[in-house]
Amino acid sequence: MNSSKKDVSSKQNQRLLGAARKAMKRAYAPYSQFRVGAALLTSKGEVFTGCNVENASYGLSNCAERTAIFAAIAQSGPGLRIRAIAVVNDQGVPCSPCGACRQVIYEFGPDATIFFQGATGPKQAHITELLPEGFRLQ
Ligand code: THU
Repeated sequence: MNSSKKDVSSKQNQRLLGAARKAMKRAYAPYSQFRVGAALLTSKGEVFTGCNVENASYGLSNCAERTAIFAAIAQSGPGLRIRAIAVVNDQGVPCSPCGACRQVIYEFGPDATIFFQGATGPKQAHITELLPEGFRLQ
């Protein structure tokens, strides 16, 4: 199994979960009523958050994870390196990042740890466990 070079402390984990919950409350989810929040920790120790933003044309909806990543780039630049990302939802149900988000996380965090609600409770996984053979161009 892959392990992060530097494990994320439980304090940082708690900080991410709290930030993700706060972001979740800002979700725009009138179609699914499923509010999701995400918070990512960068290699520099910064935290960026996002929520899901839906659209009447359902396929244009953006997941919380990608919102957080795009916000981080927009606010801090293209050198983003994700150490960890936490995902929460308002229904307390299992929710791991979707396939599209896994690939986007991998782009900026090939060694990232993902914290999410698994089938039997809180879970953490390395991005390459969730996305084996992720695609890279460079
Ligand atoms: N969603 C996320 O934001 N993140 C996930 O990890 C799973 C799904 C959103 C997309 C959509 O707005 C709603 O949840 C229902 O699929």
